[in-house]
Amino acid sequence: MDPGRHGHELYSHAELYDIAYDWDVTRELQFVLTCMEFYGPGEPARILEPACGTGRNLVCLGHMGLEAVGYDVNLETLAFATRRLAEEGMQERCRALPGDMRDFRLKERFDGAYTAINSFRYLIADAEVRAHLQAVAAMLVTGGVYVVDLSYAMPPRRRPRTIRWSAGRDPVQLQVVWRTREDRQAGLSHETCTLEVESPEPRTIETRHTTRLWQPAEFRQLVEGCGFRLDAIYDAGFQHLPDHPPPHGGLDNLYHVLVKER
Ligand SMILES: C[S@@+](CC[C@H](N)C(=O)[O-])C[C@H]1O[C@@H](n2cnc3c(N)ncnc32)[C@H](O)[C@@H]1O
Repeated sequence: MDPGRHGHELYSHAELYDIAYDWDVTRELQFVLTCMEFYGPGEPARILEPACGTGRNLVCLGHMGLEAVGYDVNLETLAFATRRLAEEGMQERCRALPGDMRDFRLKERFDGAYTAINSFRYLIADAEVRAHLQAVAAMLVTGGVYVVDLSYAMPPRRRPRTIRWSAGRDPVQLQVVWRTREDRQAGLSHETCTLEVESPEPRTIETRHTTRLWQPAEFRQLVEGCGFRLDAIYDAGFQHLPDHPPPHGGLDNLYHVLVKER
């Protein structure tokens, strides 16, 4: 298997990942919950989070009074999430379970589901995407909403930019550099994330990620063949995007509102 398949090296350094991505998710989750209520059958109470990582969304949902179940393929990140949920006294309300987006199913039902920051793009083949969507649809109540935060391929002749930021949590200080190379022909995005840990012990951790490069039309087509309707797309500032012109990779964090049809 391609070693970049699940971004394993980065996510296995769960604490460093958690420091690098330690921004307040309250506003984005409030927006996601509003979408679930507005486009779905009512105020959501139980949320599913595919690819939950270190559990930052689960904890926040728990603090908002919701029940949530997350799952992830990476056992180190899950151990971190489980520990954190216990530390925050959330273990009754929120759980983090082992599971792969390609086939994870539970008998329980959820009012809504949410997948953050391009995790959906780790699903590469059409068959994997279909299997995932059908599994999520089976776990949602009728009319339930799946919000997918996903960005697209860059428009022609535009290259993805390199993204850099710094983060810290005493005594750790680090720089993150995320480089992307798009292979349009193969429909893949080859990404390298470098964590430059400056303290307490300087070291560099490099992770390769292979993700799917999406075009808007193919996303809509696949989603709508799997029991969902794509009702709306919102940008990173939570503004509704018109259907035309279609969105492109110059826009980060697009929230796709998928409504379960039957
Ligand atoms: C960018 S992180 C997002 C984590 C979390 N949702 C957050 O907002 O911090 C992507 C996560 O996807 C997980 N992942 C990648 N491929 C997966 C798969 N096939 N099934 C389940 N989880 C997967 C990784 O282990 C990682 O935790």
